[in-house]
Amino acid sequence: MKKIKYSEITPEKIYKNRRSFVKSLGYGASSLALATIPFASQSQADDRNELTSFKDITTYNNYYEFGTSKSDPYVNSQNFKTSPWTISIEGEVEKPIKISMEEITETFTSEERIYRLRCVEGWSMVIPWMGFSLSKLLSKVNPTSKAKYIEFESVYDPEQMKGQRYPVLNWPYKEGLRIDEAMHPLTTVVTGLYGKKLPNQNGAPLRIFIPWKYGFKSAKAIVKIKFVEKMPTSSWMWASPREYGFYSNVNPNVDHPRWSQATERIIGKDIWVPRVKTLMFNGYGDEVANLYTGMDLKKYF
Ligand code: MTE
Repeated sequence: MKKIKYSEITPEKIYKNRRSFVKSLGYGASSLALATIPFASQSQADDRNELTSFKDITTYNNYYEFGTSKSDPYVNSQNFKTSPWTISIEGEVEKPIKISMEEITETFTSEERIYRLRCVEGWSMVIPWMGFSLSKLLSKVNPTSKAKYIEFESVYDPEQMKGQRYPVLNWPYKEGLRIDEAMHPLTTVVTGLYGKKLPNQNGAPLRIFIPWKYGFKSAKAIVKIKFVEKMPTSSWMWASPREYGFYSNVNPNVDHPRWSQATERIIGKDIWVPRVKTLMFNGYGDEVANLYTGMDLKKYF
């Protein structure tokens, strides 16, 4: 684990995370000064905001196209061919487009974005992604008035992805967002991590990342972005509708039938380090809670 100083990297983001953590413990705005946080919670806040190592981020993965155990994607994806690569933006738009990976890299500047990934299985990482807001890419097309949702589709290539030869999921991997969620500045097109090109096992050449939702919403190796009228059925909703809802916002108050969502294990920490409390919207509530005003988040899980 590389320990970062708060002053070093995107201090405002880390400060915000720390703030939401303080809030979740029930401290008022007046006790925001770090010195007033009791020692135990101070160390939890530190654990929560520490960057996960490059090794852990790139060897502990979920990518079922390359196998179902955590080490499979690293082992099986090294020869996956990510060039040439084209993404189609289509569906309920005035004029569909196809855009190559080269054009994407030339047109949009990727910046470092440090976000927490909270997996529905109950673990988390802090990842220094490289990327840009999806809204920028989406502004290349004009949606029709029918467009309400966006469906993301990962690549289908059973020749190269041997996991797709088994019906673990209904391939290709699909996910979806409401258009306002997709247009939110935190919703990121990821092109790299730790200042390097995105490793294959993390979704090269391009994946989506939505910081306030469980990790499975963030589809890897995207080839299609489709504007649609009806709420898309994601691969996980299709596999188990009782366990996976469309929204999948990180919510410590709504448990998955098999896993409590109240706490999480921080990947890379020693086994005796206690689990930390999971934060509503993964700690990004200040930015995104307004997307769900008036919604019963137990019903729309
Ligand atoms: N995308 C595709 N195409 N296939 C997958 O199996 N797994 C998801 C998500 N995106 C998955 C995917 C899950 S369950 C998680 S937790 C994250 O990717 C993991 O991202 P990481 O391996 O970069 O940490």
